[in-house]
Amino acid sequence: MRFGHFDDDAREYVITTPRTPYPWINYLGTEQFFGLISHSGGGYCFYRDARFRRLTRYRYNNVPTDVGGRYYFIHDGGDFWTPGWAPVKRDLDRFECRHGLSYTQITGERNGLRAEVLHLVPLATNAEVHRVTLKNLGKSPRSAKLFSFVEFCLWNAWDDQTNYQRNFSTGEVEVDGSTIYHKTEYRERRDHYAVYGVNAPVAGFDTDRESFFGLWNSWGEAQVVAEGRSRDSVASGWAPIGSHQLAVSLAPGEEKSFVFVLGYVENPAEEKWERPGVINKTPARELLARFQSADQVDAAMAEIRDYWSGMLSKYTARTGDPRVDRMVNIWNPYQCMVTFNMSRSASYFETGIGRGMGFRDSNQDLLGFVHLVPERARERILDIAATQFPDGSAYHQYQPLTKRGNNDVGSGFNDDPVWLIEGVAAYIKETGDLSILKEDVPFDNDPKNTGTLFEHLKRSFHHVLNNRGPHGLPLIGRADWNDCLNLNCFSEQPDEPFQTTGNRVGKTAESVFIAGLFVHSAPDYADLAEAMGFADEAKDAREAAAQMSQVVLEHGWDGDWFLRAYDFFGQKVGSRECEEGQIFIEPQGYCVMAGIGVEGGQAGRALDSVKARLATAHGIVLHQPAYTRYHVELGEISTYPPGYKENAGIFCHNNPWVTIAETVLGRGDQAFDYWKSTAPAFREEISEVHRLEPYCYAQMIAGRDAPRHGEAKNAWLTGTAAWNWVAITQHILGVRPELAGLRVSPCLPGSIGELEVTRQCRGAEYRVKVTNSGKRKPARVVVDGKPVEGTLVPWAAEGGTVKIEVAV
Ligand code: GLC
Ligand code: GLC
Repeated sequence: MRFGHFDDDAREYVITTPRTPYPWINYLGTEQFFGLISHSGGGYCFYRDARFRRLTRYRYNNVPTDVGGRYYFIHDGGDFWTPGWAPVKRDLDRFECRHGLSYTQITGERNGLRAEVLHLVPLATNAEVHRVTLKNLGKSPRSAKLFSFVEFCLWNAWDDQTNYQRNFSTGEVEVDGSTIYHKTEYRERRDHYAVYGVNAPVAGFDTDRESFFGLWNSWGEAQVVAEGRSRDSVASGWAPIGSHQLAVSLAPGEEKSFVFVLGYVENPAEEKWERPGVINKTPARELLARFQSADQVDAAMAEIRDYWSGMLSKYTARTGDPRVDRMVNIWNPYQCMVTFNMSRSASYFETGIGRGMGFRDSNQDLLGFVHLVPERARERILDIAATQFPDGSAYHQYQPLTKRGNNDVGSGFNDDPVWLIEGVAAYIKETGDLSILKEDVPFDNDPKNTGTLFEHLKRSFHHVLNNRGPHGLPLIGRADWNDCLNLNCFSEQPDEPFQTTGNRVGKTAESVFIAGLFVHSAPDYADLAEAMGFADEAKDAREAAAQMSQVVLEHGWDGDWFLRAYDFFGQKVGSRECEEGQIFIEPQGYCVMAGIGVEGGQAGRALDSVKARLATAHGIVLHQPAYTRYHVELGEISTYPPGYKENAGIFCHNNPWVTIAETVLGRGDQAFDYWKSTAPAFREEISEVHRLEPYCYAQMIAGRDAPRHGEAKNAWLTGTAAWNWVAITQHILGVRPELAGLRVSPCLPGSIGELEVTRQCRGAEYRVKVTNSGKRKPARVVVDGKPVEGTLVPWAAEGGTVKIEVAV
């Protein structure tokens, strides 16, 4: 069952009923100021940091779901309603929500009145702009009242939800004409305030929540709206809000627009005040002046569309299947941008107050982002690398505002360092910018202890070699990619974290996954070493990788698949000898991606075992059999009920590793089948089962052991986005940048007979046409009319256009 449809030309998903199976959200903003917005206008906005600079309040895990947002209430002769349906939930004659790229337009109609609200964060602007257009669809004149509404958050989102003994006394605002200023805590250490204005004279306003709603009323029963009468309240302590009242008269067929701006303003410390007690409003007025007319909003929208057109033209594909095309050309890169911007901080499943930026997460996000805005990827890489320790290990997380490592979680996740190599290699392949390797980057953010970025990579690589266990495999530390495989923790108390308590700093628990990751990263690392002129280091790295491959085949092979790990006691994890958890997905995917066992046939056997034991119609589960009891020696993985999250859920992030592994073996149909099984556009038809947005990946889909098999959770902020981008565009469609040129090596399913890809890279454009007979091995490649050896097309001069024909 569907709840809307894709509009590919407009690059929008169009939701046609407000009763979606869960709030379906979108993101506003591109660089510094962001909003989360659901299909009914729920959500909140923040400046740079969802925890410390939150402008509007949102209550997670609420009943009913998703109340709190930017709401435009219409009072129409005693009747009142909201165009997004919620929170008033009065029946609408028509509802439509168009989630586009960095904007959302919500339209509701009732009794011949249409209200359309366009939400966007204009480029280079620290504000949400809401354009509300009311249209009289009837034959007689009418007048209505429009009430705006936002509830302010007192900036620190954690404190805001916990510290009421203070917060109920701190709220402060100023009202000046049609503009409301939220200035809680501005009198002391803050130099920022929020502004909420509209481009028209108001008939009334409110800034005190209780005056607006009435103490005992719900969101859908605000007394101001029900009575059609603002109270002109000025908040003092308690909970500050912003609401304007506008009187609107409309002739038959007439429409009128109002532009609301909800923004963030900072003043220099010495210019905070206009006069004692009165905030300096100059920058706010400048902000509002930029959005005084509907045309100015149109211009801002056009800029956003151009921004995205430019970005999406870096890679476009025509495969003959609209579902593939819309993932590749629109929604997958869009989600990659969102994960780059948010890391794992703010979504409807991440509260924006918990984790900051993850070291491994951010490095993997780069894989799907480097081609979009390479300059921002470069900056991110240098920030991440600065949280690495001198011994090559790394802070697991860091805060985006301070860029400092997070001491609560610390380090000791032994896969973390290697992801830096994968991220940096992706950036350099995309851009050719080897100069980044010579940048001076601190260790542990200490300006007195620095090394080149290449030195950081070297410490990453050697951190694995320096931390090996009894079998010569890498020690796992607190956990590797699977945060819940905690082989050194042994937690018996409910109040302690699984990853950071009781770490035995064991010298036994080893990870086959990290071994695969290491071998996979080694050729890139060696190439970069060579490019830096370190031929010996390159040679050593290749040898170390070859040895590690041998160790994996010797001690990490279980007969039909790769083992997952050795635990603290040296027992196998992910072996047929185990009682539960006999086979795991991660090492099968990553070891085959790394080429381990491809020649000897183990790779093929491992992937056949994945298909036989782990694959379902909804994706590949993480392991089997699921853990049915708590295994203290394995940790959090065995705490989830079977089929959810890391306990045999379909953890979508690692599915593309198997997809890519299938392409390593040249099995295009199988690769494509796996890719399709979690791709949201292919799950649209079963939205009532999947439940989350059909235009973005979820982190997890319940596995076959769960009663709710097929149900997705944790949409948007997941490494799934970047890795599926890599899987479909670089390995199935097969167009990927390498150091020496553009690799054109498709591994297509039989269902794609012809393929066109246009790739812009390093200033030139590559137009690739593929005909797929499924029979031609090796592929025949013709570049600008001339047949070439192999599948690597050398980089063209800037400004050039290269025509590439491929027959496979
Ligand atoms: C979450 C984490 C990621 C981890 C994965 C598996 O997605 O953000 O870092 O690899 O879970 O545990
Ligand atoms: C939990 C989750 C895992 C996530 C981790 C982050 O363990 O199950 O997915 O990566 O928390 O700390």
